[in-house]
This record gives sequence, structure tokens and C-alpha cells, in this order.
Amino acid sequence: MNLIEQAKQAVQGVSQAVMTKAVAMAPDSWVPGGQPDPLMHSKHGLVGAPVSRLDGPLKVTGQAPFAAEFRLPDMVYAALAYSTIAKGRIQLLDVARAEKAPGVVLVMTYLNAPRLSPPPLFLTEEKAAAGDNLPVMQDDRIHWNGQPIALVLAATQEQADHAASLISATYLMEEAQTSIAAARAAGTKPSHFMGQPLHNKSGDAEAALAEAPFKVDTTYTTPRHNHNPIELHALTLAWQGDFLRIHDAQQLVAHSAFTLSRVFDMPEEKVVITSPYVGGGFGCKSLWQHQILAAAAARMAGRPVRLTLSREGVYRIVGGRSPTEQRVALGADADGKLTALIHSGLTVKTPYNAMPEPFILPTRSAYATENILLDVRHVELDMLGNTFMRAPGEAVGTFALESAMDELAEKLGMDPIELRLRNEPEKDPTSGLTFSARHIAQAWRTGAERFGWHRRKPVPGTVREGEWLVGMGCAMATYPYYRMPGGAARLTLTRDGHVSVDVAVHEMGMGTATVQSQVTAERLGLPLDMISFNYGDSTLPGLIMAGGSQQTAATGASILAAYDALKKELLALAGNSSPLAGLKPDEVGSRDAGLCKLDEPDRYDSYAAILGRARRDEVRVEASPPPPLETMHWSMHSHGAMFCEARVNVVTGEPRISRFLGSFDCGRILNPKTAASQFRGGIIMGLGLALMEETQFDERKGRIMNANLADYHVPVHLDVPEIDVIWTDIPDPHTPMGARGVGEIGITGTGAAVANAIYNATGKRIRDLPITLDKLL
Ligand code: MOS
Repeated sequence: MNLIEQAKQAVQGVSQAVMTKAVAMAPDSWVPGGQPDPLMHSKHGLVGAPVSRLDGPLKVTGQAPFAAEFRLPDMVYAALAYSTIAKGRIQLLDVARAEKAPGVVLVMTYLNAPRLSPPPLFLTEEKAAAGDNLPVMQDDRIHWNGQPIALVLAATQEQADHAASLISATYLMEEAQTSIAAARAAGTKPSHFMGQPLHNKSGDAEAALAEAPFKVDTTYTTPRHNHNPIELHALTLAWQGDFLRIHDAQQLVAHSAFTLSRVFDMPEEKVVITSPYVGGGFGCKSLWQHQILAAAAARMAGRPVRLTLSREGVYRIVGGRSPTEQRVALGADADGKLTALIHSGLTVKTPYNAMPEPFILPTRSAYATENILLDVRHVELDMLGNTFMRAPGEAVGTFALESAMDELAEKLGMDPIELRLRNEPEKDPTSGLTFSARHIAQAWRTGAERFGWHRRKPVPGTVREGEWLVGMGCAMATYPYYRMPGGAARLTLTRDGHVSVDVAVHEMGMGTATVQSQVTAERLGLPLDMISFNYGDSTLPGLIMAGGSQQTAATGASILAAYDALKKELLALAGNSSPLAGLKPDEVGSRDAGLCKLDEPDRYDSYAAILGRARRDEVRVEASPPPPLETMHWSMHSHGAMFCEARVNVVTGEPRISRFLGSFDCGRILNPKTAASQFRGGIIMGLGLALMEETQFDERKGRIMNANLADYHVPVHLDVPEIDVIWTDIPDPHTPMGARGVGEIGITGTGAAVANAIYNATGKRIRDLPITLDKLL
């Protein structure tokens, strides 16, 4: 049976399966605004255990199939040709040589492409996933420099690449807006993020700043960044009749399947995306034009298609992080109490997407002050739609805010940690909400002790080892807790005590399957090897993206809701002869492959016994968690304290990071092994943000000039010092398992910790990222 038939059968199986739909209205375990869950919030058994990744052996033995490794019968390979102007019309598109090139099956351009609907734009409706909503290859219009103008299908990848190189175009150029300065002169616009204005004001921050005895008022700039996951964006797809089957690299399978169904005007269930393994995502493995074009070409050619973007192709088609210019102005009294906090500035987006870099987000809940003014404005350029990139907003926003705090501490002659502790807010300063849990002071204290902060010399430039100036810096890290609506999970319990969990989530390498198997096993009182976790498939329940560091909470909440439905079902099946007869679901829990009365564990009935008496081979339930109202009750954020030791060579200006410590407060750590890896990965990406990453955008032509990993630098092994990570492990009473997100916080604060350490080493304050050696000479 080939993969397409398998997929079709899987789809039919799902629709035919008789499912017990049970909406968990009031799970006893956890409700937003309710009591902590005693079982899941306490560290015991598998909760908090350093379980190794279940997918590890498959990956290291090459048995884990990635999107570009699926092989379909009669498959052809795709390559793209890209525009070289930013705006205008295609005048002449010469594809004759490409069409005659060896192995070529099809050259698709706007002249022969099928009619498609524009893709629904991410964040503009519930299931939308597209990075832009442009109609590409639907007419002769060019919207950005690098837009695909032709797609070639050929018998091999090399033949497709060769044929694509033979395509040439001439254009009728129109004046493009590709300069930030020119666009700014024409006027800026107020920015919104996820439906909310990026603007907060209370008190009179400018007046308070003017009167403040101590102040800083400075501008920080951060450049464009592009996504560089190791796995290139890739897919293997096939049409069978009116059914579209895609193996893709995805962090939103359900959203992307829906979006494609709209583009091709198909019923939603006719598009199936699976994505079992993903080689890194960080916000970019969503729906871009390449999936649309590959599906269109496959339909035209009547052949399955594999498309792997080249590294350059990722820069041309997949958006990145926007540049920012941020003003941070802080006013303080002689005790270091903030009397004014202003964080405002400018970023860039396009007219056809919805993603201004929201750099004020971390500042909203950072420090106690009565006078606060936060504001983001943007200009729109003719460029590739920018997008989410690990901790959008917080990653670059904390660079500005936490550099400014360091500058203020020096003006006050105060230790920078002490300054932060003096401004710890009792409540969220902008929303007025109580924090669900905030143990950042503990993170500061334990981190400072472990790092040896007391050895830092407050006067910059005073520690020298040979050719190297040495300094220490610190910064706050923060990222919000999210749990997006749309969660759902299905549990199937068989008589032998095996449980299958079905939920459409993603494994980009962070440990999803491992941690959720732990959660399920612990909840159901089963050993880990009795759990099968099925994910990465758009036909499974749930609309849960791997984004916003929320996948763990959203998935866990879904599983806990399904568990509550399962208990109900099992009690109904247990019958009058059961020791549990007459008990309500919230009076029972699980242990040893069965249910028991919570306060009388000897009243116990095994799953096998219950199902045996009921003559059932299995029980299947599906449920959705309650809506994520917890974020309306509390201000909910992961927190951290970052410590950096930097060295700068006095001869060459070369900066090196010699030590780094992240001290985190992210609620209950469900798996210290996978969480530590997330923290370290975020910090490594933060080192890249601090020292290396910069997209070179030619403002004359709107073209990315360093669209490759030779010219776009990311940290490699020798750039990364030993990174120490510790955490408070204090459960958040108001999240499903006591856990808050760990995926993105590591990149926050890191840029400022590095900049502050470099200042302490050299006395040079670099306010413009990346901190390259030319800025230190
Ligand atoms: Mo993350 S930028 O929400 O994938």
C-alpha cells in the first residue's frame, strides 16, 4: 500500500470512528481560576523526571523521516526562480530553454498556473497560517524582490535546479518603497499585535522624566534577522483525485491544512498535512508560497512533487524578523525607584501581512512605575512579509530595555541587580492584574550566587587577562504564558492498559512527544512504555500550534480534559459490582493501571477489570479543555535572570563569550532534560542575536544580499561557551500542569546581558546590534 492510500485510509478511519465526545466543562483537576491540581503540580513520578527524548534513537539511527525524505511513486522534483526587482510587472518571461532542458516535466508561471484564492493570513482568522496573503503567480505583478516567478518540475533535483537557472525575465519596474528613512518621511502608522494596539499609557511619563534626578534617554537599534533552521523548508506532496496529501515541515499542521484548502477551494478534510519530525522551526515553519506553488504544479503535472527550498530560497520566500529602532527613557529617584518608563519606536512590515515586531511586550510587566508610555509604530515596505521569530518582541525589546536599565544603574552608582529588585512590581504595572507566580527575585539571587556576580568590578575596563578585557553583565529575561483556544485531545485506552493519545501537535526537536507521554502516563497511572503519542497530523484533534511557547500547556490541558472524560466513561462502565460504584469522577484518580478513590486508594478497580466486565476492548474519548481564561485573571509570564561573562580582545576588538548562566522561573519544569535544552538553545540563538546575526537588506533594490550561511552568521560550536541553566521549579498554580513556557525565554535578555558584559569589560556601550568587532575597536 502506498503512502497516499495509507493516508486516505487513515482519514476514513478517523471519520468512521465512533468517538465519545465529552466536553469537559469542569475538570476537577484544573480550571482557569480554580485550585491547583495536586497531582500534576507536585513533582513526583514522571512529572519532573529527566526522561530522554523518545524520538532520540530514531533520529540518531536515521529512521525518523523528515518532510523531504518521503518518497512517492512517480515523484518529480521542484525548483523555483525568483524575481530580481521589488515591485512592478513581468514584461517578458523566457522559459523556452528551461522547457527544453533535460528531465523537465513542467514550467509553471503566472501564464499557465491554475487560478487560486489568496491564502488566509496568519492571525486574521482562527485557522489561518499564511505568512502573506498575496496571489503569487496569479498575474504579472511583483510584490517583493525574490518573489517566485516560475516553478520547474523535473525528474531529478539537479535537472530542476539547472532548468530554473535558464529562466530569464524582464520587468516593467515601478517605484518600490524599500527605504525605511523614505517611508518614515512619508508617515508612520500605529501598530497592532494580535488585535491589540501596541500602545500603553498611564500617568505622564514625559513630564516625570523631565523632573527625574537620574535618567537615561537613548536609542537602540536591531537589524533584520532571517530564519535558518537546519532543516530547509521542504515538502513532499501528491494529489489523488481531489485529495491533497502533504508531508511538510510544520509547526501548525491544522492551520496550514485549512489554509491550503481555502487556496484550492476544497473542503477542509480533503487536505491532510503530516509532519512527524521537524528540523527546527522558531516561527518560520508555517505556510508560505512554496507549499501553494508546489501543490498547484503537482496538480498541473499530475505527478507527486518534492520541493526543498535552497538556503537562498528560504531567504527569498520565508519571512524573518523586522528591524527596530527603540527609544528607552528611564527616570529614577536617588533610591533607584523608577518614576518614568518610556519605550517606543519604529519597526517595519508589509501591506500584506500583520506582524509589526512588538518590542514593547516585555516592558508591559517588567517594572513598577506609575508613569509609563509604550508605543510601537511602523512603516510599510515592499519586501517579503516579515514574520514571527523566536520571542518576537521580547528578544529585541529586552535588548533595549535591559541595556537601558544597565545604563541607569551606572548613573545611580547602583548594582544592576539591586536596581531591578528595587523595581519589582507587586502587580502587573500595565494590566493591574496580580501575577500568577513571579519568583524572579529568587532567580536573581540564586543566579548571582552561582555565577559569582560578587566578583564583578563595577568600574568598566578594569579586568584584563593578557590581550583580553573581561566583564560581567546581566539582564532580565521574560516571555508571556499563552494558551491559545482550540485545544482538544483524544485518548484510547485498551484493556491491556495501553493508551493512545491523538493530538495535532508538533515535534520540532523540543521534546513534545516525550513530555506529553510523561504527562499522560502520570495522569493515568501507567508506565511510560504503555503510552503511544500520535501527533503531527492535521486529521488529529486540536488546533494547537507550536508557537508562543504554549504548546506544552495547551496540549497538557487537552490531555487532562480528555482524562476527565475518560474517568466519567470508565465509571459509567464500571458497574455496580465495582469498588468504585457510586463515586463521581472528581472523587477518583488513577494509580497502577486503574482508578481509585482519591482519599481511599484501596478502593481500586483496574482498567482491565472495568473493561473486561463491560466486555469492551477499548474506551475512546475526546475532549477540549476550558477556554484559556486564566490569562484574564492573572498576569502570567515566564521569568529569568541572565548572566554573561564577555571578553574583548584589545588588539582586534573581537568579542568572545566565556561564560553564560540562565536562571529561570518558568513554573514546574516537566522534564529537566528537554527543558534545559530549550533554555540553552534559546540562549545560543540569543548569542547570535547579540554578536552575529544581521540580514543585509539593500535599501536601493529591496534585495537581501547575504542569503546564505557563509555571509549570514549564526553561532557555531566554537562560538558557544559552557551554558549553565538553573530554575526555581516553583509550580504556577494557575496553569494546567504548573508549567509555563520554556521555548522562547532563552533568547530574551541574552542580547542585553552580552551588551552589558561587553560594556563592563571595555567601557564601550554598543546600542546597535549585532556587536561586531568593528564597533569595539
Ligand atoms: Mo515562536 S516565534 O512563537 O515559533
